[in-house]
Amino acid sequence: MKKLTAIVFASGLAAASAQGMAADIKAGKKLYEQSCASCHGMQAQGQGMFPKLTGKSAEHIATALGHYKNGNQDALKEMGDLGGSNYAIMAPNAAGLSDSDMENLGAYISNL
Ligand code: HEC
Repeated sequence: MKKLTAIVFASGLAAASAQGMAADIKAGKKLYEQSCASCHGMQAQGQGMFPKLTGKSAEHIATALGHYKNGNQDALKEMGDLGGSNYAIMAPNAAGLSDSDMENLGAYISNL
């Protein structure tokens, strides 16, 4: 298990540096488990009204979080089936995130 974690961590870092970001997957995991898993699920598998986050790129996740933080519902609508009646359930969860939090969350979730 330790070895697997190390491999996942290393490949995540490679992906992050390819995008020119110094994302911290461990910090992303901690934040995800504290602030996101209750709705999106421990494995980001989604449940009911809460969208599945696996299979989305780190960039997609960080961009969507930025739109929730900034209240940009129109941009969310352009990204997919977002920014509608469930927008207000998600927006407060992004309000307190810094840019590096969003990058770290994107890096962690996209590597699940
Ligand atoms: C209270 C429940 C709840 C919590 C906690 C929550 N979310 Fe969400 N999230 C939602 C809902 C509901 C939506 C769909 C909103 C919409 O339709 O715009 C969503 C949408 C999203 C999306 C867009 C999904 C897509 O399809 O692109 C992302 C990314 C996301 N959440 C990430 C997070 C992260 C990261 C956290 C933790 C910081 C988090 N969420 C915490 C309920 C939650």
